[in-house]
Amino acid sequence: MSYETILVETRGAVTLITLNRPQALNALNSKVLAELIDAFAAYEADHTQLCAVLTGSGEKAFAAGADIKEMADKPAVDFYLEDHFSGWQSDLVKRTRKPWIAAVNGFALGGGCELAMMADFIIAADSAKFGQPEIKLGVAPGMGGSQRLTRAVGKAKAMEMCLTGRMMDAGEAERSSLVARVVPLADLLEDALKTAETIASMPPMAAIANKEMVNAAYETTLEQGLLFERRLFQVLAASEDKAEGMKAFVEKRPGVWKGR
Ligand code: HXC
Repeated sequence: MSYETILVETRGAVTLITLNRPQALNALNSKVLAELIDAFAAYEADHTQLCAVLTGSGEKAFAAGADIKEMADKPAVDFYLEDHFSGWQSDLVKRTRKPWIAAVNGFALGGGCELAMMADFIIAADSAKFGQPEIKLGVAPGMGGSQRLTRAVGKAKAMEMCLTGRMMDAGEAERSSLVARVVPLADLLEDALKTAETIASMPPMAAIANKEMVNAAYETTLEQGLLFERRLFQVLAASEDKAEGMKAFVEKRPGVWKGR
């Protein structure tokens, strides 16, 4: 399927999705959301695809936010009646069980920062800048920023960023655990794709289960999370890939995965 606002290509078992509105610093309008939901659903459904990378086109921005020009004249009741922004969580995050990485190549502001934080983890270019500047527009984060940023960097930094709109550079983002790693901009895509290939080479069912377990740490008490972890471990123990993985280790050879 061809899209207007994103580019999608597959490289072996890795799907690369690129936000492609560089003239608007990859601002996220409704078309981008619809196309991303479609592309992520296709990734999820394709059994040959085992990890995805989301990045922005151009060297300046991952995404500079929700599209301000689209929102400027939108009546408030429409935001409410359409439950505007709900699709990001309900149709993109929740339905994507397979792993995906955000490769942040520049500004990740407002909805752009929020979209990056929806990924399983972020790899940032040294030029990346993160921020929730919505307050300057008279609003506030609407796609998860107040919740995910606070969980990632803690209340003090999240509150300061939301109240002042200041940006965090890549170094601070790494020190604050917002991103997994920082790499030179020139190496970003190659690094992210290589990391995705590593994930794609793992037993696929175990990848989904590992993702579910780590995410559960945000949603449950420690006791419930530990139980969830043990139960999923026990489910994996029944898989053909567990038998193969342990046999391959003993036989000193790479495992050959069935994904079940
Ligand atoms: C629409 C955008 C945009 C956005 C940039 N552009 N950000 N268009 N929505 N979020 C457009 C500009 O209008 C301009 O187009 C072109 O991209 C280049 O941007 P410039 O501003 O000329 O670039 P520069 O001077 O380098 O400044 C870069 C920037 C700045 C610092 C990133 O663009 C900026 O502050 N953008 C807005 C960031 C922001 O506030 N994001 C949060 C949005 S609200 P033209 O055609 O004029 O040349 C949000 C959640 C909302 O995300 C939730 C509400 C409920």
